[in-house]
Amino acid sequence: MELPFAESYRIKMVEPVRRSTRAEREQWIKEASYNLFNLKSEYVFVDLLTDSGTGAMSDRQWSSMMLGDESYAGASSFYKFKQSVREITGFEYVIPTHQGRAAENVLFSVLVKEGDLIPGNSHFDTTKGHIEFRKARAVDCTIDEAFDTTCIHPFKGNIDLSKLEKVLAGNKDKIPFIIITITCNSSGGQPVSIENIKAVKLLADQYGKKIIMDSARFAENAYFIKVREEGYKDKTIREIVREMFSYADAITMSAKKDAIVNIGGFIAMREKELYSKSSVFEIMYEGFLTYGGLAGRDLNAIAQGLYEGTEFDYLETRVRQVEYLGNKLLEYGVPIQQPIGGHAIFVDAKRFLPHVRKEEYIAQTLAVNLYIEAGVRGVEIGALMADRDPVTRENRYPELELMRLAIPRRVYTNNHMDLVAVALKNIWDRRSTIKHGFRIVREAPIMRHFTAEFEKI
Ligand code: F0G
Repeated sequence: MELPFAESYRIKMVEPVRRSTRAEREQWIKEASYNLFNLKSEYVFVDLLTDSGTGAMSDRQWSSMMLGDESYAGASSFYKFKQSVREITGFEYVIPTHQGRAAENVLFSVLVKEGDLIPGNSHFDTTKGHIEFRKARAVDCTIDEAFDTTCIHPFKGNIDLSKLEKVLAGNKDKIPFIIITITCNSSGGQPVSIENIKAVKLLADQYGKKIIMDSARFAENAYFIKVREEGYKDKTIREIVREMFSYADAITMSAKKDAIVNIGGFIAMREKELYSKSSVFEIMYEGFLTYGGLAGRDLNAIAQGLYEGTEFDYLETRVRQVEYLGNKLLEYGVPIQQPIGGHAIFVDAKRFLPHVRKEEYIAQTLAVNLYIEAGVRGVEIGALMADRDPVTRENRYPELELMRLAIPRRVYTNNHMDLVAVALKNIWDRRSTIKHGFRIVREAPIMRHFTAEFEKI
């Protein structure tokens, strides 16, 4: 008999989570104005809001934290961190930041100005936020296949080269760089192939443009390249990571994902000039160059986490757990983005709840229903997150209405995944009874999804 697959770690410390009743959850979500971000985490049984900063650190990471050097300048922790980032990414210059969006803030302060266009593959919302805040525009050049959840394509994060070329050709002086997000969170944790990255690099060189990689889930991207792309199955994850980054001029990193820490990020780059310019904003926004908004112990945890996050056995365990949940849902007939992505399951809410109008926030409606069903917290990635057009202030309705179930790293067991799958199946079975969603009664001028308040329709 073939041995079943099992996790490449064992559990040394546990954290109790509390069960609740449906009546309690109905009350709590109402008090939270039907926004899952407003819920106290103790009211959540399985928290799939995000895989960011929610992972379980290893014994080695915790012990490295005890060796943190908390000096303001020149801490040994910084040098350990820099060594690890250099070794894993291949970049010479490294700037620590308190998380990924802070890296975007510092780097974009140097590179982005009013009127610019930044082409890329479905920019993450903070990335888009930092572009639009500077009165520039993010242009989505993702391949069309990404927007059809039933279409099986091994690299749905890929950039459509003809869309990209059109933007480049028509706006030569307005484009400071191209951004490639690996994996592409917004389209479902979908990877970008080396072949596509190379082709983008060729175009970028032709037009004299930089490539920046938003690399929060770079190791998961490398895993998919290893198992799906021809010619890579015998390469190590670290070899693939070095090749991916060899085509970039700089990267922004949220270390809260693939470096498996609770807080942290960085910018890494090749050129000294960009480093010097970024350093000015770094000191203004984040702190001195050798700590950048982090404690020395956090830098140590990132240094160790980068090594662990790029080990094949860990990545296989990680991605296979996401697949486990996805396959259960497919078995029950629940419509999800396919192929299954690296960090999360994206449920196709339009296909799940065809009776709810897009103006009533379809994916948000599904997420609230799932919470009430089983205390499982997912997140809306649809019209709510797409926000309003910065110029016209009209609501934007993206092609996809998704409910994301992001799996924290090394935290839940497959029993938790079984519970999530059955909870969704129960809602799927009574989906025809769900006809109405929500209306917004209060919203912020930018990134409204975090704080918007709703009422039931
Ligand atoms: N880029 C990508 C692709 C991300 O997914 C995120 C964060 C960021 C940048 C920003 O990093 O949170 O450290 O400031 N994504 C989280 C999520 C919040 O839930 O997907 P951050």
